Amino acid sequence: MLTLLAVASPEETEIWKDVQDYYGQVLKKSADLQTNACVTPARPVPKHIREALQNVHEEVTLRYYGCGLVLPECLESCWILDLGSGSGRDCYALSQLVGEKGHVTGIDMTEGQVEVAKKYIAYHMERYGFQTPNVSFVHGYIEKLKEAGIKNESYDIVISNCVINLVPDKQQVLQEVYRVLKHGGELYFSDVYASLELPEDIRKHKVLWGECLGGALYWKDLAILAQKIGFCSPRLVTAHLITIQNKELESMTGDCRFVSATFRLFKLPKTGPAKRCQVIYNGGITGHEKELIFDANFTFKEGEIVEVDEETAAILKNSRFAQDFLIRPIGGCSTLESKVCLTFRSLSSKDIITDPFKLAEESDNMKPRCAPGVASGGCGTKKCC
Ligand SMILES: C[S@@+](CC[C@H](N)C(=O)[O-])C[C@H]1O[C@@H](n2cnc3c(N)ncnc32)[C@H](O)[C@@H]1O
Repeated sequence: MLTLLAVASPEETEIWKDVQDYYGQVLKKSADLQTNACVTPARPVPKHIREALQNVHEEVTLRYYGCGLVLPECLESCWILDLGSGSGRDCYALSQLVGEKGHVTGIDMTEGQVEVAKKYIAYHMERYGFQTPNVSFVHGYIEKLKEAGIKNESYDIVISNCVINLVPDKQQVLQEVYRVLKHGGELYFSDVYASLELPEDIRKHKVLWGECLGGALYWKDLAILAQKIGFCSPRLVTAHLITIQNKELESMTGDCRFVSATFRLFKLPKTGPAKRCQVIYNGGITGHEKELIFDANFTFKEGEIVEVDEETAAILKNSRFAQDFLIRPIGGCSTLESKVCLTFRSLSSKDIITDPFKLAEESDNMKPRCAPGVASGGCGTKKCC
């Protein structure tokens, strides 16, 4: 038995112990969970992602406890770090998607889960036909990535699936993520959020905490933390209401509602003020050739001009997405472009959705909401779908 040593407050140490016990001893498979907080909701999944998930070993999949899909786009050759990787389901799916030139590192503090993950490295490498393993697992705390040997600016993407809610010091985790991300990198993560600041009795309840509810962040606090650390504002991707479906636990949570949401947080280089831009997606991302659903607000259809705000322009320009976009400052339509400008539309800031509860409540939240890209009125037309 390997003991993890780390300096921490008594409260933090107790939570770590309880969570390790819950995910190492109490739960043996997804079906052992007492609520539906940690279950990925059914949603259309692109074919290449479905196939990648189907290739993962059964025992690994059986011990999956995630609450969302954390497999973003444009992954070839990327270096990815998975915070709280558990038995490694997302790591093994990502290892196929980044290919042999990329790498995926999973880190988790629960020894039993790390053991299951490590057990199947050779199985997956053989299945994918990779000569050299492109996946590794580390036993460690996600608040203490430096102690686990994770270097500054060493990853293109950090992912996490239903883990940050389990950590008492969320700011410390996000700060560490900021440190290890390269400039232009992103944290793409699914987690549970609360509709209000949770009262002490919910936060102190061990089962609610273990079930990913008791430690849920008030959703508005994510933007505050992100700004404090230096990330761009959170981009909401998907959201689904959690119904708990356990009478006893539901009675304890009172008026508080919970949502499982996926956000992207970008770390951009410090450059001068950005400008609103027109962007055109070239359709070059595998599995997303016709359109790229970037988040709940922006869908980029191949070949169409979209007007984007300063921050979105800066993200596209400075991230791994830059190679797939033509980006230029706004300055009217040239003669050459006037034809394509007929399929152009911009989105005003009041249309932008940031509240995961609002998104979850929209009946058809699987579709991109009010996506800019198609309008009939020519350059600059604003029209809601
Ligand atoms: C809900 S499970 C999700 C596991 C995995 N992401 C998945 O989708 O199956 C939460 C995982 O986070 C890990 N975890 C919680 N707090 C952690 C911490 N402070 N450091 C490292 N791992 C942590 C637990 O050990 C557990 O494996």
